[in-house]
Amino acid sequence: MTEFDYRGGELHAEDIAIAEIAEQIGTPFYCYSTAALTNRYNAFKDALASQDITICYAVKANSNQAVIKTFADLGAGADIVSGGEMRRALAAGVPADRIIFSGVGKTRDELAYALSENIHKINVESVPELKVLGELAVERGAEIGIRVNPDVDAKTHEKISTGKADNKFGIDIGHAREVFAQARAMPGIKPVSVAVHIGSQLTDLTPLRNAYRTVAELVTALRSDGHEIDSIDLGGGLGIRYKDETPPALTDYAKVVQETTGNLGCKLFVEPGRMLVGNAGILVTQVIYDKQGQSRRFVIVDAAMNDLVRPAMYEAYHAIEPVQETAAGASLTDADIVGPICETGDTFARGRALPALKTGDFLAFRSAGAYGAVMSSTYNSRLLVPEVLVKGNEYAVVRRRPSYDELLKQDQLANWQ
Ligand code: LLP
Repeated sequence: MTEFDYRGGELHAEDIAIAEIAEQIGTPFYCYSTAALTNRYNAFKDALASQDITICYAVKANSNQAVIKTFADLGAGADIVSGGEMRRALAAGVPADRIIFSGVGKTRDELAYALSENIHKINVESVPELKVLGELAVERGAEIGIRVNPDVDAKTHEKISTGKADNKFGIDIGHAREVFAQARAMPGIKPVSVAVHIGSQLTDLTPLRNAYRTVAELVTALRSDGHEIDSIDLGGGLGIRYKDETPPALTDYAKVVQETTGNLGCKLFVEPGRMLVGNAGILVTQVIYDKQGQSRRFVIVDAAMNDLVRPAMYEAYHAIEPVQETAAGASLTDADIVGPICETGDTFARGRALPALKTGDFLAFRSAGAYGAVMSSTYNSRLLVPEVLVKGNEYAVVRRRPSYDELLKQDQLANWQ
């Protein structure tokens, strides 16, 4: 393993000791491994190799341009959900003809920008959006995808479930044929693709199989209605291991894709995010105080919910380990790992067995490469967390820590007359 493992009693990212980076740039920071990113991408690509499939990395999971570029250099496209993500993907070198635009609330400006950049596909999610796109595309024309909501329960956390009838996403499956017909009747619009995405951190293939079957049936029905459907966008959603989950094997996922869509002769697109980056990153922090409270032990660290919001937002589990390997036989006691922010929600974990820790000891949060840095904020006027990319025995700061001056300059005093 060359990704994140212990060597000589110390946690390494590839060939660099985490403690060395921490001492040089300070904490907290995110650290990503190029080998891990590359290995995940290649494993997915290899599993799907027998099918005509394009991997469009879901940039929202980790939109650092150095990360996007790592995938772009391997041939990936990008799945984007905003004008900002489009700019990042293009700046990082993703060719426009490999960019797919998803999202329920694309603005007129964002749609116009996407058309002007000639991106591969816009996946429309509502009739009002279709109308705006129809107006913009009258003259230049646009081949579009329509995202459907198949009404399947993805069996994941409710906040990241997107394919149930009561979720805001997509056109409900019962109206899909009608909306495709409406789209085709618009001058300039040609609907050629069906898109679906039912949720994130999926650990069971059954809901995906059901969704893909529904989409395949729809493609057949649409073709009988006279539409020239040439592609299917299968979305993202494959889960990863944070604790003891058993995410589906990629080869089993590939079988589901083959089984459900294999005989349609469609070009396929997938939009994985978490699966490619989640376990390719850690968040490194240091202990401020190891405090014995009235009834509980609190390890107070210098990362907080503003740097990694997943535990506070989704009750998410992240493994938390000392960067210096704990000696065999060391006594462990349960501790809550908390940040310095002034609310109880700033709790990363409760009751984790940890050795005695002292101020300055480094800890690593595992599986923090997806939906970590991208969801960070400056709450409590904390500086935005930096990001580091490791490759072999080198590292690069791919987003630096801003200065307090920069933080203060973000707002201005009102100049009342
Ligand atoms: N495609 C679409 C249309 C999406 O909405 C998403 C994720 C993806 C692809 C990528 O899904 P993935 O392969 O990463 O599961 N912040 C949450 C996750 C939100 C996912 C949003 N959509 C978390 O931290 O768990």
